[in-house]
Amino acid sequence: MAILSAAGLRLGYDERVVAEDLSFDVPDGELTVIIGPNACGKSTLLKALARTLKPQAGTVTLDGRPLSSYRSKDVAKRVGMLPQSPIAPESITVRDLVGRGRFPHQGVFRQWSHADEQAVEAALVATGVAELADRHVSELSGGQRQRAWIAMALAQETELLLLDEPTTFLDIAHQYEVLELCARLHREGRTLVAVLHDLNQAARYATHLVVMKAGVIVASGTPGEVLTAPLVEDVFGLPCEIIDDPQTHTPMVVPLAAPTAQAR
Ligand SMILES: Nc1ncnc2c1ncn2[C@@H]1O[C@H](COP(=O)(O)OP(=O)(O)OP(=O)(O)O)[C@@H](O)[C@H]1O
Ligand SMILES: [Mg+2]
Repeated sequence: MAILSAAGLRLGYDERVVAEDLSFDVPDGELTVIIGPNACGKSTLLKALARTLKPQAGTVTLDGRPLSSYRSKDVAKRVGMLPQSPIAPESITVRDLVGRGRFPHQGVFRQWSHADEQAVEAALVATGVAELADRHVSELSGGQRQRAWIAMALAQETELLLLDEPTTFLDIAHQYEVLELCARLHREGRTLVAVLHDLNQAARYATHLVVMKAGVIVASGTPGEVLTAPLVEDVFGLPCEIIDDPQTHTPMVVPLAAPTAQAR
């Protein structure tokens, strides 16, 4: 049985229904990547798994027990989440933001410990923001800020990590740095679920690929099994050719040139 599992979810916002009868077992120990067009419900699903959105029907379970029955702190010790557009409190420094990842580990009387300090330092280094530790989050560039948020999620030291578009705002080298970090965490035994838009990055890094369309999981499996030209055309409306990534031998999506461009 999966540690984190969703069954029969109806997800939405007031009258707007995003997904109906959606079920998804987070595969233990895998690096799952969710792909799908804008507005298909990727973030909505992640929010339900992290308990920041209450399902209108169905249940999310953690270790077989409804997620809703846990204390917030106990959820936060097990499941870390990087939202798509996190909002930092006013005038907080990077170190303080990352330190907030340690809150779930602190009891009412327990003071800041050596373990907390170590977790924060390790997260700052892993995401390359150690030099920015004393800067205010509000004064950072988009990419620097994104890495500070990833550091916070890392400092939480959860066995499960949900990352909603962790590579947005990052330049190409930093995108791969974050993806390599995800791969390392996966090798070290963590379970990750990340939403990505770059299909070639998804194919390279996912050990399990999930494809969503209009609130429905339409395909899942290894990238080699899932990422075919008919699927990309059906889900994204993009005619393409799939070639072999010369570096990793995972599928690589090459969009077809537009007919007008070909004619020129
Ligand atoms: N807070 C909200 N209130 C009302 N509707 C929302 C809210 N958040 C999202 N939606 C709607 O729910 C649907 C699914 O949104 P969601 O954010 O899950 O999409 P997504 O797949 O993550 O898209 P993207 O790739 O653009 O991030 C969309 O139609 C969106 O407009
Ligand atoms: Mg989203």
